[in-house]
Amino acid sequence: MHSSIPGLGRVMVFLAAALASASFAIPEDWGEEGMQYGQLGTDVTLSCPGGSMQWDTGATALPEGSAIQQGSLVLPSASLALMGTYSCHDEDGGLLHTVALRLGVVPAPLPGSYLPGVPFVSCRASDYENFSCSWTSSVETFLPTRYITTYRKKSLTGEEKWRNKNGHVGLCLQDSSRPGTCTVHRSEFWSSYRLNITEVNPLGFSYRLLDVTMQAIIKPDPPESLVVEPIPLAPRRLHVSWKYPSSWPKEPHFQLRFRLQYRPVIHHSWSVVETVNLSEVITDAFAGLEHVVQVSAKDFLDAGNWSEWSAEARATPVRACHRVPQVLGTVASLSCDSLSVTDHSDSLEKMAVLVSLGVFAFFILAAVLVISILIWLRVRKHGKDKTKPNFLVAATHLKLYGTSALPSPA
Ligand SMILES: *[C@@H]1O[C@H](CO)[C@@H](O)[C@H](O)[C@H]1NC(C)=O
Ligand SMILES: *[C@@H]1O[C@H](CO)[C@@H](O)[C@H](O)[C@H]1NC(C)=O
Ligand SMILES: *[C@@H]1O[C@H](CO)[C@@H](O)[C@H](O)[C@H]1NC(C)=O
Ligand SMILES: *[C@@H]1O[C@H](CO)[C@@H](O)[C@H](O)[C@H]1NC(C)=O
Repeated sequence: MHSSIPGLGRVMVFLAAALASASFAIPEDWGEEGMQYGQLGTDVTLSCPGGSMQWDTGATALPEGSAIQQGSLVLPSASLALMGTYSCHDEDGGLLHTVALRLGVVPAPLPGSYLPGVPFVSCRASDYENFSCSWTSSVETFLPTRYITTYRKKSLTGEEKWRNKNGHVGLCLQDSSRPGTCTVHRSEFWSSYRLNITEVNPLGFSYRLLDVTMQAIIKPDPPESLVVEPIPLAPRRLHVSWKYPSSWPKEPHFQLRFRLQYRPVIHHSWSVVETVNLSEVITDAFAGLEHVVQVSAKDFLDAGNWSEWSAEARATPVRACHRVPQVLGTVASLSCDSLSVTDHSDSLEKMAVLVSLGVFAFFILAAVLVISILIWLRVRKHGKDKTKPNFLVAATHLKLYGTSALPSPA
């Protein structure tokens, strides 16, 4: 946790402080055959493949002040009236090329500007070898747009710094199958990268700079092949296993740790356990209730962020009560419905303690009872004796002594 937060903070700071700038360029080719864009009020240059000394606009004459320079037609401070189709010809009047000129307004600070806005960029590494950045434009320009995506590497070693001074700029590679994303391949885990994502349209460009370190942006894909199984004879247990995400290269130096969340389907709050293993035994499940389980992964050394949760897996711990070895007779069969076999010895111990306590308590009680009865009897006897008249006592004594003193008839 602690190691990831400073990195994250740095990313955030640079996000906020990312430099943005714009300038107006008029690239010639926008992939649209015969289409050219220009900014109102600036000089616009129309070029002709191979160059030509002859240009026309079809109907009207070339605008005042226009000039042909090295075969290109330069239109001074373009106004809306100049929008139209231009063509260039060879010496014999043969058509070489036609260009449709579109002009736009650039009220730069105002919304609705045609100028590209500074794109929003975020970067993420799903493994420690390559990372990707994705972007969205911040302004709808209604113009064809492309992105130039580059990076510079900053590193702590002297050699790399030297390389940086010499302007080592790498390409963050764009893949046409994943628009809005580029990838820096074979990135170094301990280096820091300054990304430059530049949005370009016919009227100009804007870029965002973003500093990233792998430690801050690493976020694995979720673990795969999650399997949850009941454990026979163990009504409170579930065995859970999973595999590394297939996008994570297996290497002893870069491992993952995991966390598991589970709950009975009918409950809403999750229990969470963390582990470094690829399997775990849940020991506090509810017998007979279906449970839902998910797992997520994080860099072993706590860099970056937890992955998303994996797909769910479900299982129900056994409900049935199996025959338990008759270790202590009735005690064993008592524990069978709510406790697992592995808990059994534990529970037997507890039972035994309870039983001995009970027996002990019983004997104590019995002893107390017997003593009380004896005392009561004695007290009662004394009481009776006292109430008898004296002569009777004397008589009894006499009688007693008399009987005992008399010789036996034999
Ligand atoms: C990272 O990029 C390299 C070069 O394209 C590729 O060979 C490698 O498989 C990628 N690593 C992962 C984990 O995708
Ligand atoms: C970012 O990239 C654009 C296009 O390559 C370039 O014009 C601009 O100077 C770069 N900005 C920085 C600060 O490197
Ligand atoms: C799980 O990891 C612990 C160490 O944290 C280890 O002692 C134990 O043997 C592992 N269990 C399995 C099933 O791999
Ligand atoms: C990490 O994940 C949490 C929860 O999904 C999220 O709030 C946070 O923004 C993430 N941080 C990063 C750097 O992705």
